[in-house]
Amino acid sequence: RYYTAQVATSLQSTGQSDEESIDIDWENLGFHLMPTDYMYLTKSNENGHFEQGQLNPYGNIHLSPSAAVLNYGQGLFEGTKAYRRDDGRLFLFRPHQNAIRMQIGAERMCMPCPSTNQFVDAVKQTALANKRFIPPPGKGSLYIRPLLIGSGPILGLAPAPDYTFLVYASPVGNYFKEGTAPLNLYVEEDLHRASRGGSGAVKSITNYAPVLRAIKSAKEKGFSDVLYLDSLNKRYIEEVSSCNIFLVKGKILSTPAASGTILEGVTRKSIMVIARDLGYQVEERLIDVDELTNADEVFCTGTAVGVASVGSITYKGKRIEYKERSEQTSKQLYSRVIEIQRGVIEDKRDWIVEI
Ligand code: COI
Repeated sequence: RYYTAQVATSLQSTGQSDEESIDIDWENLGFHLMPTDYMYLTKSNENGHFEQGQLNPYGNIHLSPSAAVLNYGQGLFEGTKAYRRDDGRLFLFRPHQNAIRMQIGAERMCMPCPSTNQFVDAVKQTALANKRFIPPPGKGSLYIRPLLIGSGPILGLAPAPDYTFLVYASPVGNYFKEGTAPLNLYVEEDLHRASRGGSGAVKSITNYAPVLRAIKSAKEKGFSDVLYLDSLNKRYIEEVSSCNIFLVKGKILSTPAASGTILEGVTRKSIMVIARDLGYQVEERLIDVDELTNADEVFCTGTAVGVASVGSITYKGKRIEYKERSEQTSKQLYSRVIEIQRGVIEDKRDWIVEI
């Protein structure tokens, strides 16, 4: 069965998807897939244009065994979140940035891509159709996952003949099992996330499975996540498996420059803007792993992760500890983002999109 947006909305108004009928433990969401009611789906036509998409009940999709995404990893994903405000209004945070990033990634992966308007409209439709899953204010968000995949069959290595764009969602709370406690990171010396000329700067699905082994082994040793070094010099920090990284020293905020091997996170960009507003000097540059020893504070940023402070980083068997400060820069910056999101302070840059 295929539902249009209008049908889905009327299903909700007849009570099939009303706000009362949900029984979720909002206090203990974590970051786990909780299937929701609907997903948005559209396919490209022979000219590479995406047709008007439709909301479908959330469920499995049919794929040829020879789909390009299954055989050659021709796929991209995005992550954005829908929030509920105290007054009940629903909103997204900078979804146009995700649309643009998907377009840049699609160019890299030889895929056609939905327009910015179509992308944002699909995200809005998915959020609205699943609005009963958007947590109460302060309890989490609806994580929205747009996917662009080479779904057409292909045997030789070449771009797929056709593509599917779909968007699904799941309510989420804290990404890490640590909750809001500071993270303990492990610096990986042998495995790398990205290399020069590779796909590290785009959100290709192929960037993620290769780091699972490093994450698994770090988690077995009790660490929260892995910090990767550049593959050429094995010396400059790049990013964490699921998020970007910042160092604070006095009033200077430093983060690895987005020069081809790290993902330009939407939260990363937003934090840099806010930090400048608050009088910090922000540097995007090469950061030697040895600089970790001198930082006053280290924190991570990402859509899934939010802003997470780092309590320790272990490199070559030595654990560098970061003491919690009375005035944590990460807390100050993240509060500002949350205040913009909640409408407590003015959204001067049109970051908020109401749905
Ligand atoms: C996100 O932050 O949205 C991501 O895509 C990271 C992912 C590993 C959950």
